Amino acid sequence: MDDSVYTMGKELDLKAEQERTLATPVMKSNFILKILIVTLDLFYGKRRTLPKFKVLEILARYPYWAWEDGGYRRLTKDHAAYHQPQDERTSRNLHWIDLGRESQDNEQWHMLLLEEIIEKKGIKTSPLLYRWLPLAMAFVYYGLTRLMFFVYPHSSFYMNAAFESHAEHQYMLMAKENPEWDDEEIDSKYFDKYYPRQKTLGDLIRRIGLDERDHMNHSIAEMDKLEGRANA
Ligand SMILES: [Fe+2]
Ligand SMILES: [Fe+2]
Repeated sequence: MDDSVYTMGKELDLKAEQERTLATPVMKSNFILKILIVTLDLFYGKRRTLPKFKVLEILARYPYWAWEDGGYRRLTKDHAAYHQPQDERTSRNLHWIDLGRESQDNEQWHMLLLEEIIEKKGIKTSPLLYRWLPLAMAFVYYGLTRLMFFVYPHSSFYMNAAFESHAEHQYMLMAKENPEWDDEEIDSKYFDKYYPRQKTLGDLIRRIGLDERDHMNHSIAEMDKLEGRANA
């Protein structure tokens, strides 16, 4: 994939990028993702809210953890079994470990930033819906994402790309629905870890949406590589 599609580390007009996202179709969900989206809408409503997005972020880390873990397992298996595995296999596994780690951290900052904003705004949430249910969903998603990556990595990359495409659009729509957030200055104890630092809540939400676009493009790039290998 052409590197120009990635946004991290670039100075961009966030509002123009928001319009770009909203003019682009959302990727088609697979069956499992459809069930996940319907479940989230059923329990948390269709309305885009910060607490609902925090639940989304709790789940968002799991596919990346599965890639890191899967890459690690494959690396161990290859090197223990063959002693001299192909360089291509080793570099692919190392890449999955790195990509998994970096993306997992980025999702972690999203989750913590949202949690901090929810707390500062004094938004109250039900422990059943926002503590216990996310834990149950995370338990299922943990197993599912690992199984998918173990059995057929392509399906894991596809589902994640569609999940991230959905998330990108949801964040940009939420920023559009809350224009007052453009006047809301923001600071965070996580801004020394999460960057680029944003000045308003509106821009932070747009920046997170762009991170999700990058995650989608990373997943598509991995799918393309696997397909290229399969067609070679
Ligand atoms: Fe995220
Ligand atoms: Fe993401």
